Amino acid sequence: MSEEKMISLDSIDDQLIKKAEAEGVETMWDRKKAMKTPCGFGEQGVCCRICAMGPCRVSPVEGKGAQRGICGATADTIVARNFARMVAAGTSAHSDHARDIAHVMHMASRDGAYNIKDEKKLLALAEEWEVKTEGRDIYDIAHEVAEVALNEFGKPFGTLRFPKRAPAPRQKIWEELDIVPRAIDREIATVMHSTSIGCTADAESMLRIAMRTSLSNGWGGSMMGTELSDIVFGTPTPRMTEANLGVLEENQVNILLHGHDPSLSEAVVLAANDPEIIKLAEEVGAEGINLAGMCCTGNEVTMRHGVKIAGTFYQQELAVLTGVIEAVIVDVQCIFPSLTPVTSCYHTKFITTSPKAKVEGATHIEFHEVTALESAKAIVREAVLNYGNRKKEKIFIPESKTQAITGYSVEAVVKQLDRVVNSHIDPQGTVKPLADVLKAGVLRGAAGIVGCNNPKTRHEYSHIEIMKKLIANDVIVVTTGCAAQAAAKAGLLSKDAVKLAGKGLQAVCELVDIPPVIHLGSCVDNTRILKIVSAVADLMGVDNCDLPVVGVAPEWMSEKAVGIGLYVVSSGIDVFLGVTPPVTGSKHFTDILTNKIEDMTGAKFFVNTNPHELTDMMLARIEEKRTKLEQKL
Ligand code: SF4
Ligand code: FE2
Repeated sequence: MSEEKMISLDSIDDQLIKKAEAEGVETMWDRKKAMKTPCGFGEQGVCCRICAMGPCRVSPVEGKGAQRGICGATADTIVARNFARMVAAGTSAHSDHARDIAHVMHMASRDGAYNIKDEKKLLALAEEWEVKTEGRDIYDIAHEVAEVALNEFGKPFGTLRFPKRAPAPRQKIWEELDIVPRAIDREIATVMHSTSIGCTADAESMLRIAMRTSLSNGWGGSMMGTELSDIVFGTPTPRMTEANLGVLEENQVNILLHGHDPSLSEAVVLAANDPEIIKLAEEVGAEGINLAGMCCTGNEVTMRHGVKIAGTFYQQELAVLTGVIEAVIVDVQCIFPSLTPVTSCYHTKFITTSPKAKVEGATHIEFHEVTALESAKAIVREAVLNYGNRKKEKIFIPESKTQAITGYSVEAVVKQLDRVVNSHIDPQGTVKPLADVLKAGVLRGAAGIVGCNNPKTRHEYSHIEIMKKLIANDVIVVTTGCAAQAAAKAGLLSKDAVKLAGKGLQAVCELVDIPPVIHLGSCVDNTRILKIVSAVADLMGVDNCDLPVVGVAPEWMSEKAVGIGLYVVSSGIDVFLGVTPPVTGSKHFTDILTNKIEDMTGAKFFVNTNPHELTDMMLARIEEKRTKLEQKL
């Protein structure tokens, strides 16, 4: 097969897909083929199913075919409503995740499964939120901070707390646009209300409502998810790990941890190291228990424990095809229902744990945070006891695995930057060195490459091509989500990759001792990017939109990505998409997203399905911003 025709950039994926064909196992690529051409109306966002007078499919072409739905909704209205609902759904996913972490923090105790791992961060947040700390037990403080966090979801008055972290000019823009987010649940409910039959029928107004909701994610739920996770599970520090399906071990119990919420995965890490469970593994003849992470759960546990990365979201079926996974343990989000039929072809147990994401045919063992360790042990025990059921003739572990450094929190990035600070002149513990090299042009800019995989693209090709081209042009890359795992697999999260960087970036990497592509965590951790960008903007006395910084989602697919994209643009950072969003049925709405929104926020969306052209667009935009910044400073 010629290289371009391969489904994935990673050749082992094509090997495993062939294995699936030989063993009669259906994968996402078979289903993609069976799906044939996608529905053109859906693809362009002009199908409305909001009421039972419809569904209405209006024509994306002006003056031709049905121009309005039965209620009179135009393509502009329908597209804008559909887009807003995607933002609301994405916001709900990240924010509900955060709510669960807040509950976990509320139940944290000295002798329980969940403790306070980063007291300094807790105290800083307590101070920010005006929670009294003096003379109080750290756990009392934690519980009160958790309560304040939980109130952010439904408080009846006022606005969210985290947006006050944004640079002052940014906050002013939000105030002027009237998009400062109020309570998180309220913003989601407002979108659901305003998009219902007979409500908002003005595309720009709909977008503003969606922007406010997206900000309740970026500067609300997601940011809370990151902050509270760091407090309870520990703020990540750089650590070595390995990535790709070659991390699976033939002689050990392999557990694939897939999903998003670290409260489960942290407990599973504890359970897998419990003497009773280790003894059980020995009794069944295994040499140990090998945890391997996937998707954002994979990012959470690798950055805090160095747990190896099995792969990205799209490898979930392929991992099972190796025949050596005893259990796929999942919680919420990005879990293919197809894991039921795929695991049934092997000995693998597919264990769901959350009442929010039960899957037909899976073994459901509910995970209870109150009894976290016991609960996780019951789940891990199932995996261990399954070790003897492997079908030897079906085993194939690809050899491929790559060294990677993960776990750069904002704090870790600042610590690395401290290496170049002359403590007599500069204050330590700031992003000043980063601001300096950006200002001087040693680094031309910075890019946050995030998001999922999508079978509309050749897997990982866009992620990796874009990353390589950017670093070669002295643009430092930070990455999260499945994009980060693609980078790990391609060797870009290692210091060896410095040789692929341009001279300026090489010098910075050597001085600061970092790889050219930096792992910043899971999808909720995109808020780490917001924090770094805002800190640099503050330091330079400018707004986020003045910086030569871009957000990129080359292979995005989920509603969560739409929610992220919009909060990034609303935060003043351009977003470059490698997959076209379902908005092209409305010229007007597409024009707002790719053009007019810049007048409001100083940033906009760029779309191009060719990764090389998309990167050229980024580099041009970075230079454009640089010129304007020089004039401003
Ligand atoms: Fe059709 Fe309007 Fe109902 Fe949508 S809301 S389905 S466009 S009648
Ligand atoms: Fe994710």
